[in-house]
Amino acid sequence: MNGRTSPGSPGDPLWYKDAIFYELHVKAFRDGNGDGMGDFKGLVSRLDYLKELGVDCLWILPMYPSPFRDDGYDIADYYSIHPQYGTMDDFREFLDAAHERGLRVITELVVNHTSDQHPWFQEARQSTDNPRRDWYVWSDTDDRYRGVRIIFLDTEMSNWSWDPVSKAYYWHRFFSHQPDLNFDNPAVREEMWNVMRFWLDMGVDGFRVDAVPYLIEREGTSCENLPETHDVLRFLRERLETHYPGRMLLAEANMWPEDVRPYFGEGDEFHMAFHFPIMPRMFMALRLEDRKPLVEIIERTPEIPAGCQWGIFLRNHDELTLEMVTDEERDYMYQEYARDRVARINLGIRRRLAPLLEGDRRKIELLNGLLLSLPGSPFLYYGDEIGMGDNVYLGDRNGVRTPMQWNGGWNGGFSDADPEQIYQPLISNPVYGYQAVNVDSQRRTPHSLLHWMRRIIQIRQTARAFGRGDIRFLKPANHRILAYLRTYEKETILVVNNLAGTAQAGELDLKDLEGAIPIEMFGGSPFPRIGELPYLLTMAPYQFHWFKLRWL
Ligand code: NOJ
Repeated sequence: MNGRTSPGSPGDPLWYKDAIFYELHVKAFRDGNGDGMGDFKGLVSRLDYLKELGVDCLWILPMYPSPFRDDGYDIADYYSIHPQYGTMDDFREFLDAAHERGLRVITELVVNHTSDQHPWFQEARQSTDNPRRDWYVWSDTDDRYRGVRIIFLDTEMSNWSWDPVSKAYYWHRFFSHQPDLNFDNPAVREEMWNVMRFWLDMGVDGFRVDAVPYLIEREGTSCENLPETHDVLRFLRERLETHYPGRMLLAEANMWPEDVRPYFGEGDEFHMAFHFPIMPRMFMALRLEDRKPLVEIIERTPEIPAGCQWGIFLRNHDELTLEMVTDEERDYMYQEYARDRVARINLGIRRRLAPLLEGDRRKIELLNGLLLSLPGSPFLYYGDEIGMGDNVYLGDRNGVRTPMQWNGGWNGGFSDADPEQIYQPLISNPVYGYQAVNVDSQRRTPHSLLHWMRRIIQIRQTARAFGRGDIRFLKPANHRILAYLRTYEKETILVVNNLAGTAQAGELDLKDLEGAIPIEMFGGSPFPRIGELPYLLTMAPYQFHWFKLRWL
């Protein structure tokens, strides 16, 4: 496998630094066999759409056999595909078809827990001397690891649940039907490596590793980010590096940047990690019309090893999480973005991008502009490229996981099944419903969001500084202007954003770039040469500019 030529920037082991990622759910993308549920055959038929959009790597949400009590994050078999998504051959065909188009694929590695339906757990609960017993975390009482926070606050009362079969408590950081694996047991680590090998041999380009901070428990600690957890992760990385160089591990650790930093290790743990706190601050900066929240979090973010990269996103399949903000900031976010309580869940907001931004195309473009120009590799969430809506009434986080809207016809082009058979109803209101918001109609409209997204992706792909460059903030007196320089080798990009809903002027101190000509990247027009005096830019409401600097 080691010699396999990879798509994208062939042979470049740092491919993930330049990549634009697209997160999608097989179930929600396209139903190829008319049973009301998306599948790999359907997804294959839409790969050209994704290629056209210009993304580089697909992140596939859990596709394994599962009772679907946490949308597939409750895995019942790590070595297979959920029958409703297709067969193993369908998966292979999908992977090949993606690779043929130069699209990479990363899948989910849910390491922390399994479903309680997994045969490992079923065996473990049989008796205390079952060989699998020690694969999970058991206790006679529910008072061990006191004080460890509960993550799914709206549903769980404790991190322990009683197993009536073996008459003991088992530990779980998420839903009670998701028992935590015991990573103190070397057999569990070995098995996780076997799982990785299985999919790597098939050709996946990496994994998004779920819930990494919680692998190990120790009395008297928060049971999060423990040194022993890092040992496990280093073990898996070392194996990966030895046997499958060029594949990528991405950490989901919803923590402050200084707590995520150790997950990069000395370049010997994760290649990538999501930067969670940047996300709510993009929304906050926009609402406050002030760059402060964003500048602060980025300036507080520690340096990471050379081969590593942040992953940044606006929305994903979960709630817009407000764990990494202060109580005051959370109140502000709820007040501004989820006044309606039904839109709130756990510590977050279960809404999609377009409705969060009140369907304001200017704000949608501005936030995507930030996503594609701030440090890190951007992750787009399926459907947000056409401005899909949500349905907060569907329970849990299902309202942001509705079927992709392909056209204005039967089931929005998602499936030929009867509408009643669809895994969950399509969005059908007059504003965001599939008749109003869909791929086909946006393809036919040159000024649609979809065309705009394709264009901005294309433009980002012309400059490596976005993915690889460092960032230096310019701090004009007008705090509604967020301006920064992204520099990589000889390339410098100047980004200027107006966070306000009113016209603004910004005077940028660009003295040290005197003599350069800013070339506006969307239209190619040269702007006045940078001189000694402050560089004046006037900006329309929510406008942003990207300039490549040229020296003649
Ligand atoms: C994080 C995933 O993003 C979320 O969807 C899931 O519910 C939890 N991990 C538990 O697996």
